[in-house]
Amino acid sequence: MTGPAADLTHAAYESPDIVALYARPDGLQKPEETLLAQLRPSLGTMDMLDIGVGGGRTTRHFAPLARTYLGVDYSAAMIAHCRLAFPSFRFAVADARHLGFAADESYDFVLFSYNGIDHLDRAERLTVLGEMRRVLKPGGLMVFSSHNSNYLPSIVDRFRFRIHSSVRETLRSLKWSSVFWAKNGLLQYRMPLASGRVHDGTHSFRSAALYYVRPDIGVAELRHLGMVDIACAGNESGEFLAGDDPRLRQDPNPWIYYMSRKPGRT
Ligand SMILES: C[S@@+](CC[C@H](N)C(=O)[O-])C[C@H]1O[C@@H](n2cnc3c(N)ncnc32)[C@H](O)[C@@H]1O
Repeated sequence: MTGPAADLTHAAYESPDIVALYARPDGLQKPEETLLAQLRPSLGTMDMLDIGVGGGRTTRHFAPLARTYLGVDYSAAMIAHCRLAFPSFRFAVADARHLGFAADESYDFVLFSYNGIDHLDRAERLTVLGEMRRVLKPGGLMVFSSHNSNYLPSIVDRFRFRIHSSVRETLRSLKWSSVFWAKNGLLQYRMPLASGRVHDGTHSFRSAALYYVRPDIGVAELRHLGMVDIACAGNESGEFLAGDDPRLRQDPNPWIYYMSRKPGRT
C-alpha cells in the first residue's frame, strides 16, 4: 500500500506516544511463549531476523538466546529507541516489503510479531511473505501473526452505540461509534468477512485499515507460497494446531500466530 493511507500508518509509528506504547516492557504473547519454549534448545545455533520489532518487546526474550539477531522496523523512531534500550544487539531501519539488505537464504528464523504485517494490503502482504521466505535458509522457520476475521463481530459490538449512566461515557460511545461506522460504512454488508481490510480502532483510528483473514485462508496463503509444516495458535490459547485442523476455520481468537517452514534441510 502506498499513498496517504500508508503514510498515515507510518507517521503513527514515528510518533513519540506510539513509540512509548510499544516500548513498555510487555511479556511474550502465549503463542510466542510456546515458540520460545520449543526453540530454546536450538536458538543458540540460529540467525534471527525480527521484523517490525517496534519497541523491542521480542528482543528482550529472543535476542540473548539467538546466535545472531537483527531487529528491523520501518519506523526510525522505534529503531532509535531499540538502540538505546538494547545497546548490545543490532537494529536497522528497513521496510518489510524490500529486505534488500538480506541475502537469499541467510536466516534460520524470521519473525514478524503482533500483527505488523496487517498494515499492508493483500498484494503487499504477499510480497512481504515472499521476502520472508526468500531470506530464510532451507528448513528455516517463518512466524508472524495476523488479525482473525472470525473476531470481527466482537469488534463491531465494541463500537455499538450504548447509553451509559454517565453523560460523558455516552458521548464517548457516540463519538467512537460514529467514527467506526463513518470509516467502515459497508462492513455490515460484507459480513461474514473471509478476508479484508477494516478500521478497527487501532491507535484510536490514527492508522489505516488493518487486514483481517480467516485462519484457514491464511494457511492456504502459506501453502500457496510453498511453505510446509504449517501450524497456527490463537493469541489467547497459545496451543499450536496443525494447519489442516478443521477447528481453525472457526477459531474465535482476536489474532492468530502462523508458524511454517521453508522446505529443505532442517
Ligand atoms: C503492532 S507494532 C508491534 C511491535 C512489536 N513487534 C511488538 O510486538 O511489540 C507493529 C510494528 O511493525 C512496524 N511495521 C509496520 N509495517 C512495517 C513495514 N512495512 N516494514 C517494517 N516495519 C513495519 C511498525 O513500525 C511497528 O513497530
